[in-house]
Formats: sequence, structure tokens, C-alpha cells
Amino acid sequence: MAYYITTPIYYVNAKPHLGHAYTTIVADSLVRFHRLLGNATYLVTGTDEHGDKICRAAKKAGQSPLEFTDSISAEFRALWPKLNIKYDRFIRTTAPEHMRVVQSFLQRVYDAGDIYFGEFGGHYCYGCERFYTEKELENGLCPQHLNTPEFIREKNYFFRMSKYLKWLKEYILARPDFIRPERYRNEVLAMLESGVLEDLCISRPKARLSWGIELPFDTNFVCYVWFDALFSYLSALDCPDGEKYREFWPGEHLVAKDILKPHAVFWPVMLKAAGLPIYEHLNVHGYWLARDAKMSKSLGNVLDPVQLCDRYGLDPVRYFLLREMHFGSDASFTDENFITRTNADLANDLGNLYSRVLSMNAKYFNSLCPAPGREEAEEHSLRSLVSNTLHNYIQLFPKMYFSQALESLWELVRALNKYVDSQAPWLLYKEGKNERLGTVLYTLLEAMRKIALCLWPVMPDSAVAMLEQLGQKIPAGSGPFPRILEEEADSWGTLVQGTSLASASNLFPRMECETPKTAVSERISQKTLKTDVQILNEPVNTGNLSFEDFKRVEIRIGTVALAEKHPDADKLLRLEIDLGEETPRQIISGLAEHYAPQMLLGRQLCVVANLSPRKIRGLVSHGMVLTVPFEKGLALLGPSGPVPNGNLVT
Ligand code: MSP
Repeated sequence: MAYYITTPIYYVNAKPHLGHAYTTIVADSLVRFHRLLGNATYLVTGTDEHGDKICRAAKKAGQSPLEFTDSISAEFRALWPKLNIKYDRFIRTTAPEHMRVVQSFLQRVYDAGDIYFGEFGGHYCYGCERFYTEKELENGLCPQHLNTPEFIREKNYFFRMSKYLKWLKEYILARPDFIRPERYRNEVLAMLESGVLEDLCISRPKARLSWGIELPFDTNFVCYVWFDALFSYLSALDCPDGEKYREFWPGEHLVAKDILKPHAVFWPVMLKAAGLPIYEHLNVHGYWLARDAKMSKSLGNVLDPVQLCDRYGLDPVRYFLLREMHFGSDASFTDENFITRTNADLANDLGNLYSRVLSMNAKYFNSLCPAPGREEAEEHSLRSLVSNTLHNYIQLFPKMYFSQALESLWELVRALNKYVDSQAPWLLYKEGKNERLGTVLYTLLEAMRKIALCLWPVMPDSAVAMLEQLGQKIPAGSGPFPRILEEEADSWGTLVQGTSLASASNLFPRMECETPKTAVSERISQKTLKTDVQILNEPVNTGNLSFEDFKRVEIRIGTVALAEKHPDADKLLRLEIDLGEETPRQIISGLAEHYAPQMLLGRQLCVVANLSPRKIRGLVSHGMVLTVPFEKGLALLGPSGPVPNGNLVT
């Protein structure tokens, strides 16, 4: 099968930012995902270089439009490889081959009688490069740019869009996933509901603007930027005669909500009028906000993707963008969100799984992949979880449910960490149960291999590193792979006994949040904590500690089996910690400001195990987690490698 995906072609009036990077990373991940399904893929991105907006920006920079567009277009082009984005074609609207395609379609639609000459007065927004009707303005302002558009009356060419209203409505109604997610489909249907679709002004008189593609049937006019830009999706395939066009059209488009109308209304109608097949899907995402605000130069909060990758690493950024945003809704980028999410998911859940399993395998099997022995109920259920997870992932990912697909993969990662805890390979080793130990480690390693493959579209470099640690390679070459993902979902046992594996792994180092806490907030938090605590059995104060007394303090290692927010206190977490006793202990701890509950799951910590129970905000705490406060936060104490739960710290 052929899979064609496009990003918008970006305006060159400003430098690329995190929003542009998001769309293009999503496109790259989709293409990589489809390659794992065995599909031939084609990814197009590029730059939109004509029109008023660009002309004005060039003037401001003291350059000719061409000099200006050359330099910013090159910045976009240079950015994508830094983000590990592999596009197949970068299309510029100033390229002669693109201009020829636009002109040939203009002529075709003109000859078919769908373009006419007329006079029109409208409110023109230079930012949007379009006319607004009275009704579309909000309190007289452009709804996008919140400025007052200029009223312009002039003679122009118009595209008979109105003629296609009924057709478009029926087309969308008949195809539930033509525009997705559904909220944007509904938005478009509501636009069409009014029963009016105005004809589209598709020219600008050269007297006012000459930086554009000349109309083939009237050299006094240039083409309206949107009529020019949308055709880039076809010129990038060398439509109408190119091989790529025959192989890949119709494909899918990826855009944010800001350009819904041109893509959902103008574009299908333009294709219909030109007698071409309509695209398959329009995938519409929300906006990345810098904290809660729209990114803007004037607010100085524009997020630079390269700076973020330099600070945090490329793959954690790619992962965060896909995991944090629910495709279709807005999402907010803050350092705290970023660090919390990546520490929990990457450093803790995934990184920890790799690190503990590989180091145990080094110790118990000399870093060679063990042979699995007889499988028991735990392995059967884990294997069916692996298969279900992969099937789920394959369903969700190509429909733009990236966050949900990754969450479902992480349920598997967490289940594997729990399996380590419940099977306690260190005990099996101690007890000499070698066959069982081999089964447990093999099950983990094989599942980890499948997880790495699933992650290749999202974190290509890390996935390659993970596979290498397991003695595997991602199949080389740029061509499609033979249906890897689907086969992986239904098979088991690819990892070969005796394969040499890495003896250690440190894929995603933990990060500390750099946001300094103010002394005041620190004081307040300590004060509230103190008043929150109600001592049940006041211990006797014996003054200085003798060694004997110190030895009475029982510090034990425990694994966090459950972590959740305290129902009544923002700063507290309720933990259940497995100390090797019959049931896990409930411990209430003031960690909530520093750790999201999921960051703690499966982690081994030092616990003061013989403290008198005390009630903290209504819940009894049977012990205390040891921490080290420092200027940037709160560090946790724990063993450097896995040890049996309940072991005493001496
Ligand atoms: N040139 C037109 C598109 C023509 S396509 C035939 C254009 N260019 S743009 O430079 O303004 O890019 C808009 C696109 O950039 C959005 O649709 C989205 O893909 C991306 N984003 C820009 N800001 C964004 C956010 N804050 N958040 C997420 N994506 C954003 O419109």
C-alpha cells in the first residue's frame, strides 16, 4: 500500500518554532510507522512563499522577496534533519515546476467555466491574506489576528465555490473520518449548515501585489496565495503525469486548527472543480501553548525546537510532543510538564526496565540471552498482554491517537516492571531456580524488543539503541519493511538464545526541574506539613543518639507498589510500599510537589520501617520514605541496583 502525508507548507515570514516542529515530527512518525507496516511512503513538506505577508516581511528585512524567501526557506529545510525528520520532497511555491502546475490548473478550471471576473468589496486582513465578510468579523476585528481589516473594493477573478456547497456537504456527511477528529468535522459541517458558501476571490491585481504566480488567462493579476499553496500537495508529486502522483495520490494532510477552512472547504472543492480525486483524510490538531499562552514574538514566548532538543535531547522532545498532546486539543508546554512526564515515562518506567533487566541478565547469564523454560500462568497472561498491546498500538497510531497508543504501550512497560517485582529474579537466582530464572528474563527481553520496535517511529535513535542493547538491528535501508509490526503482534520467540546483550543500560537519565523554589514557598510547605501531622505515639526524646540507639532505626528497602495523590492534601502522596511483608505498607509522604505518582511506581526506596505509626491528614502512615532536600528539589534514596524487598540498610 502507498501512504502519502503532507505537512502545511509553512510561511517564510518567520522562523520555525515548536508548532511547526510538532506537525512535521508527527508526519515523520506516521511515515516511519507506515514503513513498519510494510507500506511505501512519501512525506512532503515545504514553504509557502508568495503573497502580501511575505512581501512585507522581506521589505522589513531590507531584502528582495526572493532573497528573503531563500534564506528563511533554507532555515526550515535545515531544521528537519536536526529533528530526525526524513522528508521525501521539500516543495517551495516559488519553484518553477510548482508554478507550472498551478497555472495549468487555473487554466483548466477557467476553461471549465468555474472562474469568472467580477467586482467585490470586502474586509481584507493582510495577516490571513483573505477577505472577510461582515458576518465573519468579531466586533469588526479579524478573528485570527484581532486587528481591523482594511476595506478594499476591486475587480478580481472569482472561483465558483458556491456551486459546490451541496456536493461538499454530502461528501463530508458520507465519510465519517474524512476530517478528523470529529470536533473539526462538526465545525466544518456547522460552517456549511448556513446554506451559503461564498465564491472565493482567487486573484490580486498586480498593481497592488506582484509577488505571486501570474494568472495564465490575465497577466494583470497574480494568484491568491491559498489557491497557489494548496496545489503544492500535487506539484510535489509532479501531478498530473508524474510517477509519484500515480503511486501516492490521494493521500492525507496534517494541519492545525488555524487552517481548517482552506483545507476542509476550499481544497476539496478545488480538486472537484479540477476533476481530480479528493484527498483521503484531513487530520487536524490543536495548538501548542507556551504554558497557557499562545506563542507570539511580542510576548517573547516562542519555543525554539532546537534549543529544547539541545537542553533535553531530541527523542525525549519527540516523545513528549506525541504523548502529551491529545491530537485535536491544545496542549501546554512547560519545563515542569516536560520533566515530570519524561522522568516518569522514560527515565523511570522504560529506562529502569531496560537497566534492571539487562544488569540482572549480565549477572545471572553473563549477558547472553537465556533459554526460556516452561511457561506458567504469569507468562501466558503477559504474552497475551503483549499481543493485545501491539494490536491496539497498530489500531490507534495511524488514526492519530498517538497519546493513547503510547499510554497503552506504557501499560505494558509498567506491567513488565511489576512482573520483575513479582517474580523477583534475584530470589530465583539465590534459590538456584535457573530454568525459571531463564523463563522470566527471556519473557522480559522478548517483550522489551517488541516495545523498542513500536517506539522506532516516535524515538528513532533511542529505539535503535534499545535494539542494539538486545543484539538486534532495525532492518536497514529506506524501503518499506516487511509488515514488521503486524507480525510482531502475533509472534513470539524471535530473540535467539545465546545472543550477546548489553550488560548495562542508561537510556534516559533523570532530569531535575530547574525552576527554583522560593524560600517562602519552601517555608509554607514545611509549615503546612508540620501542622498536618498528628503524632499517635510520641517517641521518647533521648537526646544524643548512641550507636545502640541508631541501630534501633530500621531502614529497609521497599518497592512502590501503588502511588496516588492524597485525597485531602496537595503536597502529599499515598504510597503502598512492598517491604517483603504479607501486605504492602501504607506510607504518607510529602513528595507530591516533586514527583508525579507514576514516577514512583516500581521504584525501590529506603524506608524507615519501625517508626511509630502517625496519622497524616486523616491517613495513617506506617513508616517514612527517606529523601534529601536540596535547592532544586527533593532526591530519593534507594539502592543502586535491584535488591530484595525488605532487606535492611546497614
Ligand atoms: N502557509 C500556510 C499553510 C499553507 S498549506 C497549503 C500556513 N503557514 S504557517 O506557517 O502559518 O503554518 C501553520 C501551521 O504551522 C499550522 O497549521 C500547524 O501545522 C503549525 N503550527 C503553527 N503554530 C502552531 C502551534 N502553536 N501549535 C501547533 N502547530 C502550529 O498557515
